[in-house]
Amino acid sequence: MTDEIKKGLLGIVVDETTISQVMPEINSLTYRGYAVQDLCEVCSFEEVAYLILNGDLPNSIQLNKFKKEEKANRNITINLREIINHMPKKAHPMDVARTFVSVMGLEDKETSDNSPEANMRKTMRIFAKTPTAIAAFFRVRKGKKIIKPKKDLSFSENFFYMCFGKVPQKEIVKAFDISLILYAEHSFNVSTFTARTITSSLSDIYGAITGAIASLKGPLHGGANEEVMHMMKKIKTPDKAKSWLIDNLNKKQVVMGFGHRVYKSGDSRVPTMKKYFLKVSKLKKDENLHKIGEIIEKEMLKRKNIHPNLDFPTGPTYHLMGFDTDFFTPIFVIARITGWSAHIMEQHISNKLIRPLSKYKGSKHRKVMLLNQR
Ligand SMILES: CC(C)(COP(=O)(O)OP(=O)(O)OC[C@H]1O[C@@H](n2cnc3c(N)ncnc32)[C@H](O)[C@@H]1OP(=O)(O)O)[C@@H](O)C(=O)NCCC(=O)NCCS
Repeated sequence: MTDEIKKGLLGIVVDETTISQVMPEINSLTYRGYAVQDLCEVCSFEEVAYLILNGDLPNSIQLNKFKKEEKANRNITINLREIINHMPKKAHPMDVARTFVSVMGLEDKETSDNSPEANMRKTMRIFAKTPTAIAAFFRVRKGKKIIKPKKDLSFSENFFYMCFGKVPQKEIVKAFDISLILYAEHSFNVSTFTARTITSSLSDIYGAITGAIASLKGPLHGGANEEVMHMMKKIKTPDKAKSWLIDNLNKKQVVMGFGHRVYKSGDSRVPTMKKYFLKVSKLKKDENLHKIGEIIEKEMLKRKNIHPNLDFPTGPTYHLMGFDTDFFTPIFVIARITGWSAHIMEQHISNKLIRPLSKYKGSKHRKVMLLNQR
């Protein structure tokens, strides 16, 4: 045992996983051995979700069964709809998502059954119902009526339908689907590690995902996609981008959507998402945000040699699609439920309580004085 402290567990390997890896030989994030950018080329989000949860890409029979189950599980109970109706309108949607998953756990008869079969059934319920809840809050807080899910729509189409009452053109749906594929999994990141830590005490999947959502909310993790949008709204026009960045760097402030604990020479997910950011910008006839992004990226590389991460192109793409800024991270939740669930199941199958040590630097041993002597 060593006394050396690795703050933030920097560089520490804590366990094995078969789910994903950044493969150095192809400089890319891979899910179950497949490069994410290759998956984006040929697969739908449902196929990738199946891959992450089951270990292999589905054949058409397996995919149809998976899609059928997802569609059959989309409806939420009247009780849950009522709860969402009564949430404070100003609540952050991430807090609503966290509460929703927690309450779902109260309603599920299998909550405490941690067998692989029950965990897979619960995963499907969380995967299918969480978008319904997030879309419901999207509408409720605008004073609009909740729209129930539709079975003849794909996962992504249905989410748009439940939020806006209609499905946009297929290129927009494709861009959204791509973002979900890219957000779906990323090995031992903060929220996944949170989920695995909760699971390691043999707690249940609802608790683990509730904790993971709380962890994802932070601006150093998933919350960065919202922060990128706040930044772009402050910058407003491309001609202000460079001076804003210089000013920000002079103030020693972190630029959101840049840097990564794992990728130090570029996030392999970014080129794909940037391509779709541009496509959506062109379709919406609004390239302002894209131009701001290009300038910030160029200057960050020149001045700090720091590359953008996935949140940088994704935040403004969601904005152009019509989503409110504080719904960007809940969309990340919808995607990452797949990765979290796979990790939770993997942890259960090969569990060891996660319990690190700390180096004590508080007071030396002291005698407890009686109250009237202190
Ligand atoms: C993601 C992040 C937390 C990674 O942190 P990390 O691995 O601990 O790396 P550090 O924070 O130690 O960064 C190393 C150096 O780069 C700088 N740096 C890293 N990201 C930066 C950013 N986004 N803007 C400005 N400087 C940054 C740090 O200030 C530090 O500089 P120093 O050595 O002079 O102190 C960090 O890059 C960050 O805060 N990014 C912004 C938030 C974000 O986009 N999060 C989403 C991640 S997917």
